[in-house]
Amino acid sequence: MARAHRFLSRHARNRTSIATGAFVLLIVLYILWPSRDGRSFDFSTPVDSRPNYNKWPKERRAEAVKEAFVHAYSAYEEYAMPADELKPLRNTSIQNFNGWGVSMFDALDTLWFMDLKPEFERAISYISKAEFHRHQKYDVMFFETVIRYVGGLLAGYALSGREVLLSKADELAQKLLPVFGTATGMPAFAINPDT
Ligand SMILES: *[C@@H]1O[C@H](CO)[C@@H](O)[C@H](O)[C@H]1NC(C)=O
Repeated sequence: MARAHRFLSRHARNRTSIATGAFVLLIVLYILWPSRDGRSFDFSTPVDSRPNYNKWPKERRAEAVKEAFVHAYSAYEEYAMPADELKPLRNTSIQNFNGWGVSMFDALDTLWFMDLKPEFERAISYISKAEFHRHQKYDVMFFETVIRYVGGLLAGYALSGREVLLSKADELAQKLLPVFGTATGMPAFAINPDT
């Protein structure tokens, strides 16, 4: 009985090591097998071929970050504003967060920090007309609306002192308040701001 047991467990061990060996072999083959264009797995790490940004003086790094932001935000202004977001491959827009122009609200603090005053003013001119109606077939998501819209408005107000941002934050927060009218007092996932 004991011998049979030893015999079986030895076989089980052998099976396990064969399976492990085959698995390792497959991975090695996968890595080394030449792909259709004749090269095998690309071991070069693209990170190494990029400039070493850490060595740049911080002013130059800041300028590069600002350039990247201006690239993205000016495309938003050109192709998507006042919709929510830019679809950057097609140069069209998408309404993903209530349809009130979420990118403008989200970007207020960045626009201010980067001293992009004309963009900031253009955003304010849309924001001051926002009415926060339910534009879409979906209700307004509480969490997303608080972090993006209310947060954006309050950050913009804190930095610029523009009263319209504070009053819009208040107006929107009032519309969101009924989310707490649940049995537990925990906020509902979403609400219709028009009811
Ligand atoms: C989108 O706009 C950019 C910048 O104006 C342009 O280079 C690009 O070709 C456009 N893409 C499409 C799909 O039209």
